[in-house]
Amino acid sequence: MEERMQTELEEVLCISAVEYAKEAGKLILNHTESMGQIEQKKNSYDLVTEVDRKSEDFLKSKIMQRYPDHWILSEEETGQKNAYDALKSKFGEYGWIIDPIDGTTNFIHGIPHFSVSIGIVKNGQPVIGVVYNPVTGELFTARKSFGAFLNGQSIHVGKETKLIDSVLATGFQANDWKPDSRAVRQINQLAGKGRNVRIIGSASLDLCWTAAGRLTGFWHEGLNPWDAAAGVLILSEAGGFVTDKYGQPYQLHLDSLVASNAKIHEELIEVIQG
Ligand code: 2AM
Ligand code: CA
Repeated sequence: MEERMQTELEEVLCISAVEYAKEAGKLILNHTESMGQIEQKKNSYDLVTEVDRKSEDFLKSKIMQRYPDHWILSEEETGQKNAYDALKSKFGEYGWIIDPIDGTTNFIHGIPHFSVSIGIVKNGQPVIGVVYNPVTGELFTARKSFGAFLNGQSIHVGKETKLIDSVLATGFQANDWKPDSRAVRQINQLAGKGRNVRIIGSASLDLCWTAAGRLTGFWHEGLNPWDAAAGVLILSEAGGFVTDKYGQPYQLHLDSLVASNAKIHEELIEVIQG
């Protein structure tokens, strides 16, 4: 495709993604009082509500209506076990990777920190990222090579150059919330070496908050493509760096993710690896 046409198409795709994320956000807020049945996916830490499914159905129907030749990968349809296989089986130039609510546990408990996350990939590489927190109205967006934005204002990663000056975030994969889990050990390794650690419960927002310089870095084991597809582009476009825990360039199918303002990346990886 000619470069100018591609740029124009991706501009339109980004506008659509923002429109759908905002509408899904409205739908979610309309259901905060009566979120319907809360289902356990595997255990009492891994939850899904009727609102997750409604938001996902809404997003999928909008995308299929307007972009019938694009593929879609979504959390509640795919299930985490099959995420990588599902990703590999998707053919076609453009694909949408959506998390209808990222931070479901926060949503269920009335903690105003969750998002609708929409990443659009071209031939497997993120080209558009949209992350919207409907409670705060914060909308993070990025298009590849065009920078990252929060409600239309350009954002950049933080300036910290040392781990000791950094606020880091991590999170627990639902089935890793147990004594001596990987995250517990990594937090232990970090204790006293960074300024402090936060566990805020939405990987997409953690990546965006790192992009905006609120956090200096973020790491997480066992994420799925829909947790990260939008956020990794937003962070990269804000000047950040995203790898796996071995320092290799992050790919959507990888199991671990380390994200930072780039300047503390090496130090963070060293500590996480122990
Ligand atoms: P979710 O709310 O969409 O489930 C919390 O640390 C972050 O990890 C959230 O973004 C959460 O997404 C995600 N998460 C929770 N359990 C997970 C799991 N079993 N696999 C992958 N990601 C998970
Ligand atoms: Ca989710």
